[in-house]
Amino acid sequence: QNNFVQDALGRPLRDLRISVTDRCNLRCTYCMPREIFGPDYDFLPREELLSFEEIERLSRLFVELGVQKLRITGGEPLLRRDLPQLIERLSRIEGVDDLAMTTNGLLLPRLAGDLKAAGLRRVTVSLDSLDPETFGKMNGLGVHPDKVLAGIEAALQAGLGVKVNTVVQRGVNDSALVELWTALRSKAVVRFIEFMDVGNHNGWEMSQVVPSSEVIARLAGSGSPLRPLDAHYQGEVASRYADAQGFEAGVISSVTAPFCGDCSRARLSAVGQLYTCLFATQGTDLRGPLRAGESDAELLERLRGVWQVRRDRYSEERGEASGKRREQKVEMSHIGG
Ligand code: GTP
Ligand code: 5AD
Ligand code: SF4
Ligand code: SF4
Repeated sequence: QNNFVQDALGRPLRDLRISVTDRCNLRCTYCMPREIFGPDYDFLPREELLSFEEIERLSRLFVELGVQKLRITGGEPLLRRDLPQLIERLSRIEGVDDLAMTTNGLLLPRLAGDLKAAGLRRVTVSLDSLDPETFGKMNGLGVHPDKVLAGIEAALQAGLGVKVNTVVQRGVNDSALVELWTALRSKAVVRFIEFMDVGNHNGWEMSQVVPSSEVIARLAGSGSPLRPLDAHYQGEVASRYADAQGFEAGVISSVTAPFCGDCSRARLSAVGQLYTCLFATQGTDLRGPLRAGESDAELLERLRGVWQVRRDRYSEERGEASGKRREQKVEMSHIGG
């Protein structure tokens, strides 16, 4: 176990989030706004993407350094051809005790069974509103929430665990959070995420953030009181609550209560750039060395070197007096949240 690595602030490397495509079949206003990600947008050509072999090889190396949890993201990961084959490769890696995926759910009716059979344990489905007009606007393409609900049902049918992620934006979808939670809480753990200033195109303003404390107060105010639950593990992103019936709600408070102190997450983009923070301005290329024929030992040293000097704590810095807004941050569609 002495291969395990710590960063410059003493944080281990536990969690690897792997983006498999920068494409998506939605255009959420806060992530891939239509005006920028339009018909002429240059998405990555296929040969630029890491192959499944390459992703598997890197994942194994990350596991040697301490990673226990893998999450597949995008863009929309289910747009990557043959994705269940990647899941199968990753599920065989010894030392991985959690294998999850973040998806918008649209393709789950087609793929949930194959994903489960390939070894996926659970999915986290993004769904911002059950109101057709609100959701249609937020996803940029007028897609109906029933399409996502069908994906959630398909995942449950296939035996996958399901969480739902809802990004909360004041004045956009915050008036119907209670309805969303009430409708879904018996099937899935719903987590409400504070709108964040990721990427460079979502026009983030503090005034659009609904603090998690307010979300919890609204859920509690709707009926039964909520009690806080203990974290499942150190560094858990969501703070969890349960109502009287035991149904769970989570809040992710990256803006009002940053959790950089325990952040053990690395992010690998679809082209093999390694990012050590969601708000990074630069990554480290791994595809070059990989394709140039570096050995496992050489790659391991490279990964270790990147993590050992890591000092990222953007969400904490944003709240500090000296905190300045960054320019040219990595796009959400390249690292998948
Ligand atoms: P579980 O494994 O189910 O606990 O999932 P998770 O809480 O790790 O998270 P998920 O990938 O569903 O993340 C939910 C949201 O939290 C993401 O979409 C991001 O918006 C936000 N988030 C996750 N990790 C980080 C992080 O390291 N920093 C910040 N600022 N936000 C994060
Ligand atoms: N703020 C908060 N969450 C975001 N996500 C995407 N962009 C943002 C943002 N600006 C969430 C998505 C999805 C996950 C990948 O990240 O809704 O749940
Ligand atoms: Fe696609 Fe998810 Fe981004 Fe929405 S948030 S555009 S579903 S990648
Ligand atoms: Fe980790 Fe960066 Fe998020 Fe802080 S802002 S929790 S360092 S990814």
